Amino acid sequence: LNILFAAAEVVPFAKTGGLADVAGALPKALQKLGHNIIVVMPRYYSIDKSKLQKLPAPLGVPMGIMGEFWAAVYKTTLPQSEVEIYFIDYEHYFGRSGLYEDDNGGYHDNDNRFVFFSKAALQLCKMLQFTPDIIHANDWHTAAMPILAKTRFVHDFGFAASVLTIHNLQHQGHFYKGVMDVMEVGWEYFNPHSLESLDGVNILKGGIAEADAITTVSKKYAQEIQTPEFGFGLDGHIRAHNYKLFGILNGVDYAEWNPSIDTFLAQNYDVGNIQGKLTCKRNLQKYFNLSVRDDVPLIGFVGRFVEQKGIELIARVINGLLNHDIQVVMLGTGESWAEEFFSEVAYFRDNFALHVGYSNELAHKIEAGCDMFLMPSLFEPCGLNQIYSLRYGTLPIVRATGGLDDTIVNFDEEHHIGNGFKFYDATQEALYNTVLWAVDVYNNNKEAFERMQKFAMQEHFSWEDSAKEYEKVYDFALEHKRGEN
Ligand code: ADP
Ligand code: GLC
Repeated sequence: LNILFAAAEVVPFAKTGGLADVAGALPKALQKLGHNIIVVMPRYYSIDKSKLQKLPAPLGVPMGIMGEFWAAVYKTTLPQSEVEIYFIDYEHYFGRSGLYEDDNGGYHDNDNRFVFFSKAALQLCKMLQFTPDIIHANDWHTAAMPILAKTRFVHDFGFAASVLTIHNLQHQGHFYKGVMDVMEVGWEYFNPHSLESLDGVNILKGGIAEADAITTVSKKYAQEIQTPEFGFGLDGHIRAHNYKLFGILNGVDYAEWNPSIDTFLAQNYDVGNIQGKLTCKRNLQKYFNLSVRDDVPLIGFVGRFVEQKGIELIARVINGLLNHDIQVVMLGTGESWAEEFFSEVAYFRDNFALHVGYSNELAHKIEAGCDMFLMPSLFEPCGLNQIYSLRYGTLPIVRATGGLDDTIVNFDEEHHIGNGFKFYDATQEALYNTVLWAVDVYNNNKEAFERMQKFAMQEHFSWEDSAKEYEKVYDFALEHKRGEN
């Protein structure tokens, strides 16, 4: 199949979260299955143009009442592959310090920026004379594409089926309805079954209604988003479209997240020679100025400091936990109260360390050097860090939600099973007790802990398997489209 894959962030070019990991890996797996796929993303200021190849002609992008905008297009290939990735370069929209926001908050013109990008991706196909069978959009940023393909671009893409993957339902792209005149999909789509919501435009909602298939990134999350607790107001809308909803778990790019070849580590290791993990632990303790001790359980956290990640739960229990003989390291950025709170904790406690910022290298070092990995998310569509942790033999302590629930099997001494520790209620008591339970197993049941580590390290979450599931969804979408035409 010819596939157009559009995303707002793609590893290694720009990343704020897991969407980028997925967009950098899934297209490669699809190409390996024999598909002809191109990836499109914006050219942000942080992406160095000099390493890319510029296409000779500019790209005209129709913006409704705002007229036509002209963008430059660059291209290269995804690392270690022949998948072509195109960059839409439009200085006024993307030549900024952040992807969606800067220190002053979200950009006020995110509606126009990503409508522009969605249209540009479709225009690009026309320019390249690439006729997609499948238009694969991701999250609200590109969720206008399914509607655009059957309205403004119907003469070009009338036979293409569209698939929308929801990586996070919390962000829906909710804007003033004036953006309808920029989108040019026809005001008939401004109705409560499609784009309309609270007298504004909800781009993700419209995409859910108009796509031929919707996917999300775990089976459990596909169920959860149909309930009020996890639906962010769209659960009813999603239930109405659940006949075309599929949950497909993300895979892992083991060329990037693999302790046996990871170049960021003090020493490589694997399930057969796990002692290298101890070198990584010592190295991490030194890096963070913690006392260098092999016997103390070291627990890590890597992630955005936002409500979703259970950061408030951690804040409530951290001081109590640190009264025990454990060490905790955290890496992340996000809400300023959290950055400040954890900085204070780091100042007063010598068994706690923090790095506020974004560091891929440190993320790898924490995965390798820690004994356990903390992920107490309130909701988690898939979650990648717990899956990376498994490969590094770093047992996850997670809340049983979304992809965390699908990937982590709770430790069960009696039946000799488990690859981590799970709790169910989003309460500080549950988190506190579960961390201490994991610590107790680490300290007093070494044999079981090591057995779990070995088991975890041999698990394999392959993109190839996920890509095969996407293939089935593409077939479903094409079938759906034929039915409609
Ligand atoms: P989400 O997409 O909700 O942020 P995921 O677990 O799917 O959660 O993916 C997060 C990705 O971003 C992981 O690859 C993780 O290592 C990375 N990441 C998050 N915060 C940081 C940070 N401060 N420094 C480096 N990497 C980070
Ligand atoms: C989102 C989710 C995360 C998921 C990632 C990639 O950002 O929060 O759980 O792993 O997308 O699909």
